[in-house]
Amino acid sequence: MCDHCGCRDLTTVRRLMDEHDELRALGDVVRRALADGDVGRARDHFLALLRVLGPHVAKEEKALFPLLARVAELSEHVAALEGEHADLFDAVDDLDDLGEAAGSAELWSDGVRRILHELDEHMFKEDFGLFPAALATLDGADWDAVDAWELAAGGNAGRPVPPGPLSPAGG
Ligand SMILES: [Fe+2]
Ligand SMILES: [Fe+2]
Repeated sequence: MCDHCGCRDLTTVRRLMDEHDELRALGDVVRRALADGDVGRARDHFLALLRVLGPHVAKEEKALFPLLARVAELSEHVAALEGEHADLFDAVDDLDDLGEAAGSAELWSDGVRRILHELDEHMFKEDFGLFPAALATLDGADWDAVDAWELAAGGNAGRPVPPGPLSPAGG
């Protein structure tokens, strides 16, 4: 994804894009489980996806996006992406409200498929729009600030990214 433009060469962006890859891989597992009619497996992997998505979105909204929102040409785009984050989490809350009533598993499955589709579209906009724009706009001090935020939040900024169980290197 986007390897041709060199985005992955900058470690901060590489980590964000690697997290997108992990989210896509988990989303694929959820879709396959739903196709197999295994809602329990889909729920387990959707929860795993949310555990990656939460810190990922926090890093974008708390560290990267504020730096880009200062740029007049990018502020509207950043606001739109933040709105998409809110819509995604609202949709997840709606799933939680379904409870155990009859037919809720089908509604949950349909809702998850919609969320995964919206998430794919959102990540595409970041991989091919916002991240390249960030690389063209931000300077070294800005990227250091993003890394410092990530480290303070318990992330792995500045450290090698270990191969995850769902990454290509991990099988
Ligand atoms: Fe995002
Ligand atoms: Fe993202």
